[in-house]
Amino acid sequence: MNQVDYLRISLIDRCNYRCQYCMPEGSELDYVLQKDLLTQQELLTLIKQIFIPLGFSKIRLTGGEPLLRAELIEIVENISSYEQISDLALTTNGYFLEEKAQDLYNAGLRRINISLDSLNPQTFNNIIGRSAPELWHKTWRGIQKAHQVGFDPLKINVVIIPGINEEEIEDIEALTIERNWHVRYIEFMPIGNDELFQQRAWVPSTEIRERIKQRWGLVESSVKGNGPADVYQIPDAQGTLGFISQMSECFCDRCNRLRLSADGWLRPCLLNETGQIDLKSALRSNQTLEQIQQQVRELLEAKKDINFKLRDKGAQFYTRTMSQIGG
Ligand code: 5AD
Ligand code: SF4
Repeated sequence: MNQVDYLRISLIDRCNYRCQYCMPEGSELDYVLQKDLLTQQELLTLIKQIFIPLGFSKIRLTGGEPLLRAELIEIVENISSYEQISDLALTTNGYFLEEKAQDLYNAGLRRINISLDSLNPQTFNNIIGRSAPELWHKTWRGIQKAHQVGFDPLKINVVIIPGINEEEIEDIEALTIERNWHVRYIEFMPIGNDELFQQRAWVPSTEIRERIKQRWGLVESSVKGNGPADVYQIPDAQGTLGFISQMSECFCDRCNRLRLSADGWLRPCLLNETGQIDLKSALRSNQTLEQIQQQVRELLEAKKDINFKLRDKGAQFYTRTMSQIGG
């Protein structure tokens, strides 16, 4: 198994969007209460005293929507000052980037992933479950701002849902031709969205690749990511196209990450919670940092056998939403 050196931290489980595949409007969500959120201090203690000593060097901040977290800029500033962390990234829906991109950059952030599932404002609103006419434009301006400020790599996350945004595959690709942007397709997963998933199903990466190939041509990219994406490129394009195929291909054996939820649960796998540890309660009880570190070490050891392969044995649906796990 790979060395596990990558921590994904959900800073908050709330979001200002209601994406159909993530936290659809009307679904009952039990938000984490303020008192149960890991505080900034707890978070930094865990990173410095537990994860860095265990060899972690990469961190991604996610949510919900991480730009809703009040101390985000400070958290970024602190984490980027740790020299052992060679790679700090953030995943956002882009809504607040127009105002916040410069502050994030100044705080030391360089890598950013922005979700954008459609280039059509109406389809976009349908997917994000909101109706204000401005939303796509605001998100688009947020992406432009991130580009101007100098984020590199700037990645666009796209989930294709049959019959909703499938027709836009070729147009979304085209964004990478003249811009140094990197589109990442994430196969649609059945997490907290049974109804939509059963109704629409999902499109395998191979099919998306085939369509792009027909329209634009496609070659393997020489730029190799360090994550699970298979990376390609339209010939002579500035940016790349990555495919994250967790439904059609099992990459559990290459998994290099742990996930920390906003309320402090450390999870070994997106879809299998076996062995998860409640780090918040551990920190707030009288356990020593050595004891907590020992528990994390045991989880790392156990992780080899905790994965998403269960899905092949018929475990189809997961009730927890991505916003609760940390996308
Ligand atoms: N399937 C695939 N991707 C998802 N995301 C959220 N929910 C799902 C799902 N059910 C993705 C979003 C975003 C990232 C945080 O997670 O598109 O880019
Ligand atoms: Fe919010 Fe992202 Fe979930 Fe959409 S996918 S509801 S933007 S957390």
